[in-house]
Amino acid sequence: MAAASSPITVRRATTKDAAAWARILGDPAVYPGTLQLPHPSEERWATQLADIQQPGKADLLLVAECGGEVVGSAGLHPVGPSLRRRHAMMLGINVLSTAQAQGVGTALMQALCDYADRWAQVLRLELTVFADNARAIALYRRFGFEVEGTHRAFALRDGVYVDALAMARLHPSPPRLPGA
Ligand SMILES: CC(C)(COP(=O)(O)OP(=O)(O)OC[C@H]1O[C@@H](n2cnc3c(N)ncnc32)[C@H](O)[C@@H]1OP(=O)(O)O)[C@@H](O)C(=O)NCCC(=O)NCCS
Repeated sequence: MAAASSPITVRRATTKDAAAWARILGDPAVYPGTLQLPHPSEERWATQLADIQQPGKADLLLVAECGGEVVGSAGLHPVGPSLRRRHAMMLGINVLSTAQAQGVGTALMQALCDYADRWAQVLRLELTVFADNARAIALYRRFGFEVEGTHRAFALRDGVYVDALAMARLHPSPPRLPGA
């Protein structure tokens, strides 16, 4: 893996990161790989970042900084309200095109997996990724994600319906109760 020229730090996102968040998602090398739309709104992200910090929300939003600039964003989210699926969360991750292939995605994935495995009682992490997104798939595989299936014509991307892979990772070593 290429080393970033400055150290990469990961921290929780705040509403002050709305502009950087919108900038990453507005990058033409980023949003086609996501379910976001072109021309993201900074105001909308400010609202969403504020909403997600409300007490009781299980979501975790992180940013990665390199050389004083926010270059990556990542999120861990409940899969839904079902009590029986509380052990599962889904994740998403994005890195500014100028900072890709320098370890930023790896740093964000490590932080999300550590949080899920060691603090948040998550046993199953899941995600969808476009089937031709080789870099993202390689990154997810390195963290233990496996392909569970293919969603055909999952989403419209630049005028074309594209397939997505369902990937998931089960906790590699679930914590046990004392004495169990
Ligand atoms: C996918 C993404 C998050 C990865 O972040 P990143 O900072 O570039 O990732 P890293 O630099 O930490 O690692 C990328 C790995 O993929 C490898 N890689 C790079 N290009 C690749 C390719 N075309 N095919 C396979 N692997 C590739 C790198 O060598 C590196 O592996 P290594 O650490 O073993 O060397 C980032 O590229 C991105 O934001 N893409 C656009 C948005 C997106 O697709 N998000 C994911 C939505 S599911």
